Amino acid sequence: MDFSARLIALLFATAAFAFGQDLHPIANVFNPKATPADSVYNVSMLMLAICAAIFVVVGGLLTFTIVRYRRRKVDDGHEPAQVYGSNRIEIAWTVLPILIVLVLSMATARAVVAVQNKRMPADAFKVTVVGHQWWWEIRYPELGIVTANEIHVPLSTAGKPAVTALRLESADVAHSFWVPQLAGKTDVIPGITNTMWIDPRQTGIFLGNCAEYCGMQHANMLLRVIVEPPTEFEKWAIAQTQRVLTDPKLESARATFLSISCVNCHRVSGTPANGTFGPDLSHLMSRATLGSGVVANTPENLRAWVKDPQVAKPGNLMPNMQLNSRELEEIVAYLSSLK
Ligand code: CUA
Repeated sequence: MDFSARLIALLFATAAFAFGQDLHPIANVFNPKATPADSVYNVSMLMLAICAAIFVVVGGLLTFTIVRYRRRKVDDGHEPAQVYGSNRIEIAWTVLPILIVLVLSMATARAVVAVQNKRMPADAFKVTVVGHQWWWEIRYPELGIVTANEIHVPLSTAGKPAVTALRLESADVAHSFWVPQLAGKTDVIPGITNTMWIDPRQTGIFLGNCAEYCGMQHANMLLRVIVEPPTEFEKWAIAQTQRVLTDPKLESARATFLSISCVNCHRVSGTPANGTFGPDLSHLMSRATLGSGVVANTPENLRAWVKDPQVAKPGNLMPNMQLNSRELEEIVAYLSSLK
């Protein structure tokens, strides 16, 4: 990153720190870690450079004029040259902006086309992302994995490029998929399948956010992309496809969970719980957050969430189930066993 990019990234980081939202992403397009994000970065830098040049020229002329022609104590009685109509100036201020707009739109179009027309390699890793109010369903059709809000993908290296091809769908209203460090925004529209791809070249967790207003909890429709080396990724994938076994000690807790209407909305593989309206809970404990990134997945937060999900995320579509304390403890114990 050059100096200006560092400065801008620092400003964003400072703003994020000031707001203290550590689960929320820093919308940092100035630190790209995948090819589509590089395109966004390059266009942004060109745009910023041109805007900065315009700012310096206009601001400089303005400052010069203000200082040079300020009111003085002793007026020397001279008026500056008065210009009435100048074809040269008119042509300059018409042609220059047209050229600037042309350059900017060509650069943008080139970046958009380069990202959109990328041919997916045959071994591209396929992930389907379904936007819901207000969470993300993540499916791996080839692996038979369904999870939520956290997308695990393999690292792409020069020796072993790994492209993840994303299919974006919506279960309800328009959302927008945006992980600033990996790719530009792509709308998630009901009835339409949009596509996007990423080839992350650095391991780590990349935060993203729904970027299209989709209702009350739009701002808390967070997502994370977890980029792992292929071996780690495979380990994760194998764990996700394991059958969920219940500790015999938790039989009664499991029965309680299955007897309550949780099962109408949530799925736990290998049980009669088969709902698809809410997130799949089969391997809930493998996820770092609850409520689509709104709180960390800790035992206290899980209990508070199950007791009344409307506290952490008001307006979300999971109702307060009015559980009694025995049911609450049993359900939390059962969910905590879904590794
Ligand atoms: Cu989904 Cu905004």
